[in-house]
Amino acid sequence: MIWTLPHDSAQAMQMENDFGAHNYHPLPVVLDRGEGVCVWDLEGNKFFDFLSAYSAVNQGHCHPHIIGALTEQAKTLTLTSRAFYNSSLGPYEKFITELFGYDKVLPMNTGVEGGETSNKLARKWGYMKKGIPENQARIIFAKGNFWGRTLAAISSSDDPASYTGFGPYMPGYSLIPYNDLEALEAELKDSNVCAFMVEPIQGEAGVVVPDKGYLAGVRKLCTKYNVLFIADEVQTGIGRTGKLLATDYEDARPDILVLGKALSGGVFPVSAVLADDEVMLCIGPGEHGSTFGGNPLACHVAKAALEVIVNENLADNALNLGEQFRAAMRDLIAETDLVTHVRGKGLLNAVIINDTPDSSTAWDLCVALKDNGLLAKPTHGNIIRFAPPLVITEEELAACIGIIRKTVLEFKKG
Ligand SMILES: Cc1ncc(COP(=O)(O)O)c(C=O)c1O
Repeated sequence: MIWTLPHDSAQAMQMENDFGAHNYHPLPVVLDRGEGVCVWDLEGNKFFDFLSAYSAVNQGHCHPHIIGALTEQAKTLTLTSRAFYNSSLGPYEKFITELFGYDKVLPMNTGVEGGETSNKLARKWGYMKKGIPENQARIIFAKGNFWGRTLAAISSSDDPASYTGFGPYMPGYSLIPYNDLEALEAELKDSNVCAFMVEPIQGEAGVVVPDKGYLAGVRKLCTKYNVLFIADEVQTGIGRTGKLLATDYEDARPDILVLGKALSGGVFPVSAVLADDEVMLCIGPGEHGSTFGGNPLACHVAKAALEVIVNENLADNALNLGEQFRAAMRDLIAETDLVTHVRGKGLLNAVIINDTPDSSTAWDLCVALKDNGLLAKPTHGNIIRFAPPLVITEEELAACIGIIRKTVLEFKKG
């Protein structure tokens, strides 16, 4: 066993190809260092990061406050498991529940574990509080949802690339169209439904923004039919859409809130499920958990990551610069046939390319953007998401808009 460092990007890509599973199709760039809004490849080329690790790096790469908390705590105590109390967990739980306004938090690691936890909680609540007969609980999801890659998550997916070849699937899951309150009401009338789980904006589906009033409508219907409203804010939360939570835009407080990604500022996986006692106390000792969930290192990292969002007013920055970004994209759309539409909220945005979803145009355009110093990734063949770290300045954004303009206007379809 020899630890070999790659000489250059070509060798690094070859090593991933030779020794790693082929479950991703990365853009051909090998990142080696990051700071704030920028990343550098092995050859020292600099790029603006317009993916932010799928919105995990809202606070920017290697934010000193978060890295400071990480390194300080790493020297003190990293993991105890929940077999014992630790001196960091209680203060973190108090901090995060006060910030988001819930009675309790259940700490996990990845976003998909947060989703799983929310589903288990909802089922348990359904049996204990709503009186659903044993094993009959149903959870409703919206078409186009994405909440991860576990068997439960793909069981609620309508994307064949996610679920094909991995059956059998989780029972008790049903799909309705996104942004459709009538379809939701029809399902909620079934007294065996315990929850509706939804993203306030569908990220992986291509930044699909529902109509104004949808989230408030979901809240009202869930209350009317005694069904839990689970908001998957793993991608939309923590300032990304211009408010601390995307559900803050409307009178739409979820019963269960799922957070992840930027909860650690991209340092390592930290997720959280928040709910009030009526729901959270349905799960008792021994019924759910995780070796790493609530570890002291994660508690300090997450506290610091949240402090950065609040103290640096990053949600406001996302709100203001998001408006500027979409205005610039609308100007661009007036000048080209290649981009037809821009949509999003705050700094979670996407542009639609004038081609079919199975085309390679969005990919080719992302390669051209990379060659011009900006990294973004298609979500489908004809959609490109633009989601820079929220620490981006007005000057940096202007430079990035310049790169996007130049690349789009010079692009020739292959
Ligand atoms: C809305 C949403 N929920 C959940 C997840 C899963 O998070 P993780 O990849 O950390 O498991 C994602 C990941 O992209 C997501 O976008």
